Order: sequence, then C-alpha cells, then structure tokens
Amino acid sequence: MTTLAKAHPNIALIKYWGKQHTAGNIPATPSLSITLDTLTSTTRLNTAAQDSFTLNGSLVDDPKIAACLAILREQYEIPPLVVVSDNNFPTAAGLASSASGFAALITAINHHCSLEMSQAQQSAFAREASGSAARSIFGGYVGLSQPDWVAKPLLDAELWPLRVVIAITDERPKSVSSTVGMQRSQESSPFYPTWVADSEADYLQAETAVAQQDFAALAQLAQASCLKMHAVMQSSQPPLIYWNPATLACLERIREMQDTGLEVFFTIAAGPQVKAVCTAEFEAEVTQALANVAGVRRTLTVGLGTGATIDDT
Ligand code: PMV
Repeated sequence: MTTLAKAHPNIALIKYWGKQHTAGNIPATPSLSITLDTLTSTTRLNTAAQDSFTLNGSLVDDPKIAACLAILREQYEIPPLVVVSDNNFPTAAGLASSASGFAALITAINHHCSLEMSQAQQSAFAREASGSAARSIFGGYVGLSQPDWVAKPLLDAELWPLRVVIAITDERPKSVSSTVGMQRSQESSPFYPTWVADSEADYLQAETAVAQQDFAALAQLAQASCLKMHAVMQSSQPPLIYWNPATLACLERIREMQDTGLEVFFTIAAGPQVKAVCTAEFEAEVTQALANVAGVRRTLTVGLGTGATIDDT
C-alpha cells in the first residue's frame, strides 16, 4: 500500500533566525507565517526492506531526512521505508522546500504507520527536522512561539485571502544553509542579542495585526522583521549576503508602488527571491511590475493554502 501526502511551503512574515541551546531544534525567536497554495511537495511512502530517499527523481543520502526518521523511531515502531518526494518548484532556493518536504514526510509517516499523532505532535517532529516545517502542517496564517514551540493556526486562509507574488532572481540552491547561517549569526553578529530581545514583541503585534486583518500594520511589522533579520545576517562574520542586485531592485519597485497607494509589502527569506504580499485587487499590477524588474527571471503568483494532507484517491 502506498501512502501519498502533500504539503505546501510557507513564508515567514515574522522571521525565525537562531536556535536555543537545547535539544529539539527550538527556535530562538517566535515566527508567524502564511502557508502558500500551488507550490507543492508530494511524498509517496512504501514499506520496504531498507530505507531509501528519492528527491526530485534522484536517490539522495540526506542526513536531515535520516535524522528525522531516527527521532521518530525513538518513540514509534516504524518499518524501513521507501520515500519518494517531488517538489513542483525550485528546491533549496529560499522557497522553503524543506518546510513543505518535512511536513509532507511526517504527515505521510503518521498515516502510513497509523501513529495517530495530533497535528501539534506532527508539528513538533517537523520542527526537529526543520524549524519552518513545523508551520507547514497548518494552512493559512500560522504562529510558532513559546512556550511549547509547536505551530498553531491563527487565521484561515479564506478569511483573509492575500496573494503572494514571488520574484525569482536566481534558481540555484543557496550557498549557506539556514542551520549554518543561524549558528554563524549567533556567534558573530553584534546585533543578534537585540534581534532576539525584540522578537517576542514583534510577534505579538503581528498576531494582533492578523487577528484584526490590519494590512498596514502587518506590512510594517513584516518588512521590519525581514530587514532586521537581514541586518543580522549581513553583520555576521563572514557576512551572509543572500541578496543580489535584482533583489534590491525589487524592494525599490515595491516601495514605489507603496508610495502610489498600492497595498503590497515585501519579505525575503535566506535566499535572493523577493516575495511581495498584496491584496487581490493589486495582484496583476504587482506581478507585472516585478516581472519587468531587471534581473527577475520569472514570477509566480500564488494564494494562501491548506495544511499538509493525505491524498486518499
Ligand atoms: O527552517 P529553516 O532551517 O529552513 O530556517 C528558516 C529560516 C527563514 O526562512 C529565513 C525564516 C523562517 O522563519 O522561515
């Protein structure tokens, strides 16, 4: 019997960057995200004689996947598994493929092995594999914060159906992984302690902005969180500069649109792509504007989607 699970990437509006010095891959900062639709990780599972992982058609020896299975096996009886996972979007290029990939994997294992984990338990295991994966268990607007550091849904996508225009400026995998980058920032950025100290207040204000569907407030908080995180990255030693000239040109273009009254704001993860979040009314205009920025290779326009699911068909 094959089990098939699907999950979507999410993008953080309030960013997580840094880990606590404890077991369980606990973030140092709370985060708030939106789960996307259209972009999908599809994971198929079968029981077999030994574990194997195929990602986008190639057999891989990924220590993070092996570690994720090992952690699950400390608590549950899980047979050897053949895992075949495909992303319909660029892998490891700041489009959160690890978030959707691990959310789909945990969801598939939970179903395939009848583990009967709650969504909160699945989120905790996903977090151990990749912090942002904890959030892709849920759809819409999602928070990941103390005290328990499992993700929780904050608002359904249908209640505030914002749109996201993704400007892809470089499709290659990023040069420094989030895990390595976070550790470097923690050890060397002079701004890291302030970043962590401010993060809870930023998160709580964003939770309120989401609850009130206050676009202007969420825009201001999200842009500030993004730029603070990149200030921490850029002030690390050696510096983590994920931007390229097109990244900056997109920010400039978004700022111009804001000046003419468009409801749009930017966010950037650990990569060079720019995500412009906007209301449906301005989607076409924002898409066209970013597609015309020099250095933008292509744009993807997506909506907000559901959490991880099992496909029974
Ligand atoms: O979960 P990771 O290890 O891929 O790290 C995610 C880091 C950011 O995307 C930059 C921020 C976030 O909260 O998703």
